[in-house]
Amino acid sequence: GDAVAFFGEHQAGIVTPAQDRLHFAAFDVITKDRAKLVEMLREWTAAAARMTQGRDAGLLGAVGGQAEAPPDDTGEALGLPASGLTLTIGFGRTLFRDAAGADRFAIADRLPAALEALPHFPGDALRPEISDGDLCVQACANDPQVAVHAIRNLARIGFGVVSIRYSQLGFGRTSSTSREQATARNLMGFKDGTRNLKLEDTDLLREQLWARAEDGAAWMAGGSYLVTRRIRMTVETWDRTPLAEQEAIFGRDKGEGAPLGQAKEFDEPDFAAKGADGEPVIAKQAHIRLAHPDFNNGAHLLRRGYNFVDGSDGLGRLDAGLFFIAYQRDPRKQFVPVQRSLARSDILNEYIRHVSSGLWACPPGVTGDGDHWGRALF
Ligand code: HEM
Repeated sequence: GDAVAFFGEHQAGIVTPAQDRLHFAAFDVITKDRAKLVEMLREWTAAAARMTQGRDAGLLGAVGGQAEAPPDDTGEALGLPASGLTLTIGFGRTLFRDAAGADRFAIADRLPAALEALPHFPGDALRPEISDGDLCVQACANDPQVAVHAIRNLARIGFGVVSIRYSQLGFGRTSSTSREQATARNLMGFKDGTRNLKLEDTDLLREQLWARAEDGAAWMAGGSYLVTRRIRMTVETWDRTPLAEQEAIFGRDKGEGAPLGQAKEFDEPDFAAKGADGEPVIAKQAHIRLAHPDFNNGAHLLRRGYNFVDGSDGLGRLDAGLFFIAYQRDPRKQFVPVQRSLARSDILNEYIRHVSSGLWACPPGVTGDGDHWGRALF
């Protein structure tokens, strides 16, 4: 039931030890009025500061207002604790320049170079209606009702200014972002997040997670860039794949999560080791080789994804997969090269499909009551 601090140098929900549940939402801004947008961001910030501490979204609350008016909180989180709720905002490219090239809010000159549109990757099957967006909010909590309540109230507050473009529920974390957490499993049954950037990796976080003023966009100093990808898994095909093949695909064993050839989860992979047959123990096209910093110019990611199952697809299959979430200082040097190498040769590709994509500039943290989300941008 613990509350996570809302105010700080960085936004919560990035290095915060990954909570169990996700409600992610992307919004379109439907007004052209800059003042209205900024006012909404102020109201969102105040509501977020309250909700993350386990309070109602508005000052009067779900039942404290006038009977003649709609309540300023929707009520479904009444009596529930903060549940580790974090709310993390991000700005998409189209906020700076929309699809028609218009600079609706007079901020086009502040578009960070690192927010360069992601390239098309081989195998991408992106659906535009569940991709991109002007704004996003990542709500993470240990209680799904708390995460859903938070997004719902932000959407309610934003009525007339924003509308939900798409939203995604995640029911189980697939990553750990702190060494104190046990590594969770993805829907392929493998431990995910073993070699992730973690809260304790202070030097690497400074180098590879947080943007700096000298990176080009001064307003992003202390912020981070977020890549979201909805990755569908064809679990039915996966479930008919032999264990040894599954392990070869990742380059790790399924039970312990150790790199092939090693005994323990956190042992270092030995990419040079060869088996009796003369072939590499960790295949040339294994996921952990292709994604490893040694083969990507030292690039690390802070992954924070969630499992999803959104019912079935009408063809006898679960609509299941990984909602991939990764934070970094510069996607051009981190997500893009890693995903390029995965898209080109990862044996995992036979079992997955990227169906949605988003790229977001997540500003630094809100420092106190006089500050609000996006203050340095507007
Ligand atoms: C590692 C699963 C997509 C980047 C891993 C591991 C698993 C895994 C089981 C090994 C445990 C660990 O170190 O976390 C998956 C699944 C995916 C997927 C099931 C898709 C459904 C991606 C994508 C990226 C990515 C799209 C980035 C573009 C990484 C990185 C590592 C990793 C950087 C750590 C490599 C290392 O340093 O050893 N993934 N992954 N993964 N994955 Fe993925």
